[in-house]
Amino acid sequence: MRTASLFAAAGVIAPALCNSKRTPIVSSEQLVKLVKLEDLLAGSQKLQDFADAHGGNRAFGGGGHNATVDWLAEELEKTGYYDVVKQPFVELFSAATVDFSAGGADYKVEYMTYGPSSPGTVTAPLIAANNIGCTAADFPAEVTGKLVVIKRGECPFQTKALNAKAAGAAGAIIYNNIAGALSGTLGAVGDYAPTVGTSLEVGETLLAGIASGVEGSLFVETIQENRTNYNVIAETKGGDKNNVLVLGGHSDSVFAGPGINDDGSGSIGVLTVAKALTQFKVKNAVRFAFWGAEEFGKLGSFYYLKSLNGTLGGSAAEVAKIRAYLNFDMIASPNYVLGIYDGDGSAFNFSGPAGSNTIERDFEEFYENRGLPHVPSLFTLRSDYAAFLENGIPSGGLFTGAEELKTAEEAQLFGGEAGVALDANYHQPGDTVENLAHDAYLLNSQSIANSVGKYAVSFEGIPRANATIRKRSAEMSRLLARFDTGHAHSHGAPCGAGSVVM
Ligand SMILES: *[C@@H]1O[C@H](CO)[C@@H](O)[C@H](O)[C@H]1NC(C)=O
Ligand SMILES: *[C@@H]1O[C@H](CO)[C@@H](O)[C@H](O)[C@H]1NC(C)=O
Ligand SMILES: *[C@@H]1O[C@H](CO)[C@@H](O)[C@H](O)[C@H]1NC(C)=O
Ligand SMILES: *[C@@H]1O[C@H](CO)[C@@H](O)[C@H](O)[C@H]1NC(C)=O
Ligand SMILES: [Zn+2]
Repeated sequence: MRTASLFAAAGVIAPALCNSKRTPIVSSEQLVKLVKLEDLLAGSQKLQDFADAHGGNRAFGGGGHNATVDWLAEELEKTGYYDVVKQPFVELFSAATVDFSAGGADYKVEYMTYGPSSPGTVTAPLIAANNIGCTAADFPAEVTGKLVVIKRGECPFQTKALNAKAAGAAGAIIYNNIAGALSGTLGAVGDYAPTVGTSLEVGETLLAGIASGVEGSLFVETIQENRTNYNVIAETKGGDKNNVLVLGGHSDSVFAGPGINDDGSGSIGVLTVAKALTQFKVKNAVRFAFWGAEEFGKLGSFYYLKSLNGTLGGSAAEVAKIRAYLNFDMIASPNYVLGIYDGDGSAFNFSGPAGSNTIERDFEEFYENRGLPHVPSLFTLRSDYAAFLENGIPSGGLFTGAEELKTAEEAQLFGGEAGVALDANYHQPGDTVENLAHDAYLLNSQSIANSVGKYAVSFEGIPRANATIRKRSAEMSRLLARFDTGHAHSHGAPCGAGSVVM
């Protein structure tokens, strides 16, 4: 893709120099006008090309993600308007080749991140765990040496995998308790049985075979190694560095697909606004962020805050310079709702730090001014805003929905199909450039521009993060536990795989 189209459309040849007298101060109205569907789709195609050239994904640790990161940094660098940093961080990478068959039939199974390899192909009788596998008592003595079949639910996958190992199982097959494939993470390296996830349907088939003594064959070959990954951070050269707007999305996909909605859409929406902003002067500094390894558990954004808040560098004062954070993770879901994070807590009784209410209200106004509906979206902490909430930073953003089914009311409000997933391709190979909702994509990217235009000029109504707020956010992170241990893919959860733990 060439970026020239944006500038051509704007009738401007070169980006504004910060000190040029003829460059206007940004306004929301002007910035919104520069956001064009053709630029969004060209950017999305670029990401699709990176995935196509690298095994169909842009996941942490692979060439598709590297290409994405390098391209984002180059695009921002060449505007001349931003200071661009590729911030490296090292995290444990874990992936595997898995294979499972039983009674002569092959079944589709998924690796559970951080699980161990099997010693070659393990062939053994299947056995069912008693109950749901959350206690040692659920694993009778006969489990030893067998492949134990366990239902999902009530406790983390980790507990089941540890219990299976402690009972001497040769492997563990955890099956879903709702429709769909089951992949997830054991959370950390540990002493587990080789563990895979599978669908409810496969689980029930396996259970039916146990009575007749069916044998299974499980193969898990993992790679676990520390790999370098990057956040891309681009900050306006101009603007007040003590009053900074940060906005972003994640640059990685899951392994299962190219991630063009999740989160190619947020990445390209944010990038397109960054390019448009180069035509203007800003009063407040604006920092665009593209987080790495979100799908492994929001690793990039948490690393970034640690590098800023004194844990790994920086200080609380650095954090307090960030006046607001805006998150865009999935903004073009094919069967979308127009979701806005519930900053004031009015819908879910779970608000962001003071000022998040203003951010929510400002987003709402954008849609209302166009006569368009919107719905509140719960801060489930399953995307990168979690790191900002925990640091007391007023936050908000947009989310058009993942695997949850559209309700009849939502279909009435937004059109689309009730009873169908908001994004049927969520974390699947079908999350391609063909499956973006163009109207939502354009509208939400313009909505990003609207808020950027506003906060680049003034943070009125948004108090600065301070120690009081951060203390409150510690309380918030305890509350958050109720979501983190809740059902994976719960309503409003944009990015399950990295954080699906039970
Ligand atoms: C991706 O980038 C990292 C860090 O620069 C590098 O170590 C790794 O070899 C790259 N991987 C691929 C597949 O290009
Ligand atoms: C990854 O790095 C950490 C921290 O340096 C280290 O403790 C760990 O052993 C490394 N893991 C692997 C698999 O190399
Ligand atoms: C809202 O949540 C708080 C805890 O954060 C709780 O004390 C309060 O009772 C809740 N209110 C409602 C109406 O659920
Ligand atoms: C910190 O923020 C709270 C909530 O907005 C505010 O009431 C308080 O005055 C602030 N404290 C300082 C020292 O700025
Ligand atoms: Zn995502």
